[in-house]
Amino acid sequence: MKNAEKPFIKTVERHFLDRKGNNPHATTEFSWLLSGITLATKIIASQIQRAGLLEIMGEAGRVNVQGEEVQKLDEIANDTLVRCLGYRGNVGLLVSEEDEEPHVIQDAPESGKYTVLFDPLDGSSNINANVNIGTIFSILQRDPKCDASDVMARVLQPGYKQVAAGYVIYGASTVLAYTAGYGVHMFTLDPYIGAFVLAQENVMMPTEGKIYSVNEANSRKFPIGYQKYLDWAKTDDAGYSSRYIGSLVADFHRTLIRGGVFFYPQTKKSPEGKLRLLYEANPLAFMAEQAGGAASDGTQRILDKQPHAMHERTPLIIGSKNEVEKVLSFL
Ligand code: AHG
Ligand code: MN
Ligand code: MN
Repeated sequence: MKNAEKPFIKTVERHFLDRKGNNPHATTEFSWLLSGITLATKIIASQIQRAGLLEIMGEAGRVNVQGEEVQKLDEIANDTLVRCLGYRGNVGLLVSEEDEEPHVIQDAPESGKYTVLFDPLDGSSNINANVNIGTIFSILQRDPKCDASDVMARVLQPGYKQVAAGYVIYGASTVLAYTAGYGVHMFTLDPYIGAFVLAQENVMMPTEGKIYSVNEANSRKFPIGYQKYLDWAKTDDAGYSSRYIGSLVADFHRTLIRGGVFFYPQTKKSPEGKLRLLYEANPLAFMAEQAGGAASDGTQRILDKQPHAMHERTPLIIGSKNEVEKVLSFL
């Protein structure tokens, strides 16, 4: 095969630009924004690979807006993302799970076009146990009709308005999965060339899978419908198995690949659910639907929810279409 015909590696940015024809956002400026995310997550991956050696395990000695002990790696991941995205030129606002207020990068109408929301490090409780953790991101564009100074209007948009969304899972291999509304595509980080290289296009979630993923310790505090579902799933003829990693990104990634359903309902401790709408449920719901799956809060489609606060939480049922519907049928 002549060199020219050899399949050249396809990076995230190149793959995204190839959509020029059918995606109005497939511009070099958006691709430049994506490269801010790929650069940041490559830096985070390199930190995680060496966490035990760099004295960056453990707590940072402060509590974040969620009231959770911040891990050093949470802080490193957050700073890295803010720095890499901060000068991308077309980013107007950054919203992070770790910061109470949005970072206003610039609010000139044209240049501050995109809002990037992220959970810099998901599954923080698993960092010291060397269990998969991840970064989740969601990208909104500013509604031209809305006033640049109305920061909240630029942030509190329903999930169906997302321009793109995705996650990076740090594990045996580091994988980036994203969607821009034209399917879900996966890239594996090749450490030798330092690039995320296309591994699989148009990933489809199996329409069913006999796996449920939930923190069973909370099950007595779930609304009764969830308890009835779990009783049914444990019967011989239902034949389900249970898998729970405790990192949303890892539980979702497995569900995307193997099918099944993940749910984190409301409990007494978290009456609105634990997971955050803007930078956990919305991006993964966009990914799930693009892969043929579904995501609900138990009463409505996640992507239809009108957010009222930046860090608001939501119950989440996400996974294979038939499996989500099965859970909903018990509620
Ligand atoms: P984060 O580390 O970003 O705060 O997210 C942790 C979340 C999510 O990753 C996971 O699904 C959930 O917490 C696990 O919660 P429990 O430990 O209560 O099961
Ligand atoms: Mn999280
Ligand atoms: Mn987090």
